[in-house]
This record gives sequence, structure tokens and C-alpha cells, in this order.
Amino acid sequence: MARKSEPLPGTSDLFPDECARWRVVEQAAHHLFPRYGYGELRTPIFERTDVFLHSIGDETDIVQKEMYTFRDRGNRSLTLRPEGTAGSIRALANKGIPQGDEWRVYYLGPMFRGERPAAGRKRQFHQIGTECVGKIAPAIDVETIHMLHLYLREIDIPADRTRLLLNTRGTADDRGPVGDALREHFSAHIDQMCEDCQRRLNTNVWRILDCKEPACQAHIHTAPTTTDLLGQPSRDYFHAVTDGLADLDVPFELDARLVRGLDYYQHTVFEVVFEGIGAQNSIAGGGRYLIDFGGVACPGVGFAAGIERLLLTREELQAPPPPPPRVDVYLVSLGDAALRRQQQLAARLRELGFAVLMDLEGRGMKAQMRAANKSGAGTVLILGDNELAAGTIVCKDMATSEQQEWPLAEVATRLGTCLAPQAADR
Ligand code: HAM
Repeated sequence: MARKSEPLPGTSDLFPDECARWRVVEQAAHHLFPRYGYGELRTPIFERTDVFLHSIGDETDIVQKEMYTFRDRGNRSLTLRPEGTAGSIRALANKGIPQGDEWRVYYLGPMFRGERPAAGRKRQFHQIGTECVGKIAPAIDVETIHMLHLYLREIDIPADRTRLLLNTRGTADDRGPVGDALREHFSAHIDQMCEDCQRRLNTNVWRILDCKEPACQAHIHTAPTTTDLLGQPSRDYFHAVTDGLADLDVPFELDARLVRGLDYYQHTVFEVVFEGIGAQNSIAGGGRYLIDFGGVACPGVGFAAGIERLLLTREELQAPPPPPPRVDVYLVSLGDAALRRQQQLAARLRELGFAVLMDLEGRGMKAQMRAANKSGAGTVLILGDNELAAGTIVCKDMATSEQQEWPLAEVATRLGTCLAPQAADR
């Protein structure tokens, strides 16, 4: 039985050492995406349910099986966001997308899907995503995919260890002919397929291509290749994307079965997979979409990467860990008067930007030196009654064990000189 203090299944508590690993991938996003003109967007964690229903698609697993939907006290149907695109489009449509212009935004934060928890599959998970909204051009899709490629490289997930799968879903004009061909193929086998697919045959036949049921897989493999059935404009668009990726040396594999689990996609779709982290191997996915918001058609392209899966991948690839937290000085005090004086010194040094730890309980010298050692501080400042009376402090260099006596009044200046390399980045 689960202990009362355990987090709910599919959710996690993140402790400081883990948060440090998270910050590596978060900071890389904050550094990289602005270099492509993107700015950060923060949208609410919950939205009106219809924000997700119409954009993600009524027939998707997310909408049908996974959303956390509830009624608030005003009997409004609300949903915890299962992904970041729909809320971003709502926010941008609300702000106004100027005619002929575009918005470039990125986001980081928790998303919620009621899936069966497994390694790399959480109920509260976290995405880092980008959206470029307002314009349609294959070069924007290429740039987006290049940005993801570079982002993964920056966090030590190189392209030669992953696979970038690429496909096109064409546009609304292609849906009719492709849908007819798929329906004709699946109709012949439909009584051997799962209940969801039996329904999807008439409601949204493309969704069948995304079904993971073993009974349906065999028939999905023999289905006609949708890319062959697209009209010339969609094929030209896709060729421009593949040519652009080749120009930028971004390796990719064509995967005609890739439709992605959301219905808003048109044209380019892509997914990055890493085989070393088990069944949940999609570390990022995205594509071009058209989302209608309140009668305004918002075209866009973007991707989202799952932070938990990025971290599992980094671990598997033995990516360098984040540096341990910096401690410049540890203050040791012997006696109450010294402790009070050291607390003043700690406050002053922290105001100046030094990272300072100290003992606040008046423990014995041995215990304090042990703590100082464990903290990793390069310098320890020891104050007792004698030093207090003389207006000095003992400075111990932990690397050489050398001790010097410093005038108390000069501590900040002398420390500034000893710690010059670290102080430079303050
Ligand atoms: P998605 O493929 O549903 O796309 O999710 C993107 C990424 O989020 C996945 O590749 C995976 O790394 C992570 N992810 C999804 N579900 C879970 C889960 N239950 N546990 C852990 N990680 C998970 C989207 O969400 C689209 N909004 C991406 C997009 C942006 N398309 C255009 N713009």
C-alpha cells in the first residue's frame, strides 16, 4: 500500500539535486530559442475544456481518454492542459495576431495526461516547446526542426544517437482523397480491428494510423502510403522541407506512417526518438498545424520535448552532470559572541555576492570543520574569543591547509582577491 506521504502515481517530487539537472535543459532553452527570435510565453495551467476539444481533436486519445476535466463551482467545464499548443494559440489569438506578421513564443511547464504511468510516461509531465504562429512557409518548418536539432545537441543529445522521423499530413484539400483510400483499405479488415478503430473508420480514419493495438498494427502496415496520395501542392511543400533540412545537414528518416496523436497537424510532422529509454522513446515531437480559434484560422509550426524523457536520455548517454552548488566560504565560530559576529559577517558577504554557509547552533570545532569540509568551500574563516578581542579572523585555505590571520575589517576585500575567478561572474 502506498504511504500517505508518497506523491500520487505518475507525479514526482523533485529534490534540489534533481532540479539542478532539470535546470540544465531549461537554461539551454532560455539561451537558444531567443537566438531564433522566440520569447517566453506563460499560459494558465487550466483552460476552458473547449480550448482543447476542438484543436487537439475529438477522436484523439488525449481528448477521449486522457484529459483531466472537472467542473468548477460555477459548473464550468475546465481541463488541466494536456499540451502547450492549444493554450498558446488561445493566448495569441486573444492578444491578436497582426495580419501578415508572426508570433514566436516558447514555453516550459507542467502538462497533464491521465495515462498509465510507466518509465518516461507520467501523469504530470513537463514540456519545453516552441510555436511560430501566423505564417505558412516550408522554410519556417525547416528552421523549427533545425532549432530542435541544435537544442538537443546543446544538451548533449547528438543527432547521431537519435532518429528524426519526418512525414507530411498534407492539407484539408488532401483529406478527402486520402481518407477515401484509407477507408477502402480498412473497411476490408475492420471486424478484426479494435472498437476505437471501428468507430474511427467513419469519424476520423487518419486516427487509425496512430493506433497502437496489436490487432490493428498488421492492417496499418499494409495501408496505402498517404504521401503518395497527396496533391501536388502538398508534395511540393514537403519537398521544400526535405531539401531545406538537407541544406542544413539535419539528418532525418521519412516515415510514411507518422501521423502524430493530435488532429491539428497539416503538412510537416516530425518526432525525435531515442531507443535507449524503453517503450516511451519519443523525446520530442511537433509539426505544422492550423488551429481555428473563434473563427480565426491560426497557422503555426512548433514542437514540444518532454523534459523527463530528455533527462532519461541524457542519463543513458552519460551526459556531463551539472556542477555542484558553489560554496565560497564556510564560517566557523567558537562561542556565542563569535557566532553573533560571524552571522553579521555572513550577512555582509552574502550582500556582496559570496556564497556563504555557517554553523548556527554553536557546535564544537570538530563538527563545524567536518561540515565545512563537506560543504566544498575553498576557504574557512574561524572566529573565537581571542580573534574577536584582537579584531582578527583565521583564514584556512582548504586545499593547502595553510592558515593566515586577517584583520576582520579586511575580510571582504581579501576574500575578493582570493576568489577573483568566481567573483568575476557575480
Ligand atoms: P506530443 O507528441 O503529444 O506533442 O508531446 C510532445 C512530447 O511530450 C513527447 O514527445 C514526449 O517527450 C512528451 N510527453 C508526452 N506525453 C508524455 C507523458 N505522459 N509523460 C512524459 N512525457 C510525455 C505535443 O504535445 C504537441 N503540442 C507538440 C507541438 C508543439 N506540436 C506543435 N507545436
